[in-house]
Amino acid sequence: MMLEERLPAVCVLLSLLTFVEPYNSPLKPTWPNYKVPVILPQSISKLDKAQFDADPSLNVSSSCGAECHKYSSMPTYEDLRDYMAYETLYSNGSRTMTNVGIYVLSSSGGEGRSRTKRQIYGHDGRFNIYGKDFLLNYPFSTSVKLSTGCTGTLVAEKHVLTAAHCIHDGKSYVKGAQKLKVGFLKPRYKDGGKSLNQTNPRIPEKMKFQWIRVKRTHVPKGWIKGNANDIGMDYDYALLELKKPHKRKYMMIGVSPSGRYLPGGRIHFSGYDNDRPGNLVYRFCEVTDETYDLLYQQCDAQPGASGSGVYVRMWKRQKQKWERKIIGIFSGHQWVDKDGDKQDFNVAVRITPLKYAQICFWIKGNYADCRDE
Ligand SMILES: *[C@@H]1O[C@H](CO)[C@@H](O)[C@H](O)[C@H]1NC(C)=O
Ligand SMILES: *[C@@H]1O[C@H](CO)[C@@H](O)[C@H](O)[C@H]1NC(C)=O
Ligand SMILES: *[C@@H]1O[C@H](CO)[C@@H](O)[C@H](O)[C@H]1NC(C)=O
Repeated sequence: MMLEERLPAVCVLLSLLTFVEPYNSPLKPTWPNYKVPVILPQSISKLDKAQFDADPSLNVSSSCGAECHKYSSMPTYEDLRDYMAYETLYSNGSRTMTNVGIYVLSSSGGEGRSRTKRQIYGHDGRFNIYGKDFLLNYPFSTSVKLSTGCTGTLVAEKHVLTAAHCIHDGKSYVKGAQKLKVGFLKPRYKDGGKSLNQTNPRIPEKMKFQWIRVKRTHVPKGWIKGNANDIGMDYDYALLELKKPHKRKYMMIGVSPSGRYLPGGRIHFSGYDNDRPGNLVYRFCEVTDETYDLLYQQCDAQPGASGSGVYVRMWKRQKQKWERKIIGIFSGHQWVDKDGDKQDFNVAVRITPLKYAQICFWIKGNYADCRDE
């Protein structure tokens, strides 16, 4: 397949910010079809060795709420190229910066960005996930713990999606990022499983983390530049590549539909909240507002849940089956000024078509496998 000529910037922008309106049966929430752009590396430059001097902060807060985000100016094509450039950190401490080109393969106009009315719902509680049957089963088994304290989600044989702030504070890498590891909950038996028999079914003594080292990480420049400021939050995601395959089932990533197309308007995620050490905590709640890059909700969550993959389950028409996909990354708290009242929201970064193209490229290493979404 050949890339078509680069289209004028305005045209590119339009197609990056629009999508094909989904067919949506009221009974069956269906995955929309998106036009995914192509992101290709154009140049790679070496950077100085990484500094690991930032104190890990498990939460990010920003005073720019949904309204502020909605009325901030639209990024230009050059802005987007800049935000989508990315830094790669290797386990030996060396770093590279990759500049990218953004292309669309076909052009057709569309509706502008959608805007939904703000609605505030009460929040739902959280559920501890107990018992190996649940913990070791999909989708909970895709939640892993980062040695820096956050949560991540398995998105490929060797890849974990998480929040950027779990490894980088916008200026520098956090102290624990140099020897970053990913923890998998595994059952541990008192005697190594020797006494297992019919009358004594497999009841593990307890669950324990087994760790795998991270080989390299990718962080978008939009985060590094932004330094967790107004636009920075939009780029609070990172991808980790493990030294070896984890051999578990993973969850696919998908482009985030608008909140109004989600089943029940809800999102789901599981994470290792720090107020419940050693427990995987599951929750779901309604999306209360959204911008092009963020989903606002009031799911209960404590900092350790940062980096959790936010997922939904919808019907995939082409495959004629239900599919669960990660459509966002839980970032953290945000105080939003609403009519003079400070309101506490939890924010998730949406996987937009552009971010999908980038993360997919990081996973697959080529764009051809990232065309179909
Ligand atoms: C963020 O975390 C710090 C310390 O962990 C805490 O003091 C602060 O209140 C938290 N901020 C928010 C908005 O949750
Ligand atoms: C670190 O690792 C990367 C990737 O494996 C390699 O390209 C680079 O040369 C290494 N740097 C040093 C200083 O060893
Ligand atoms: C099964 O395990 C229980 C508890 O460890 C033990 O008391 C019992 O003798 C075992 N039965 C057999 C058939 O090994």
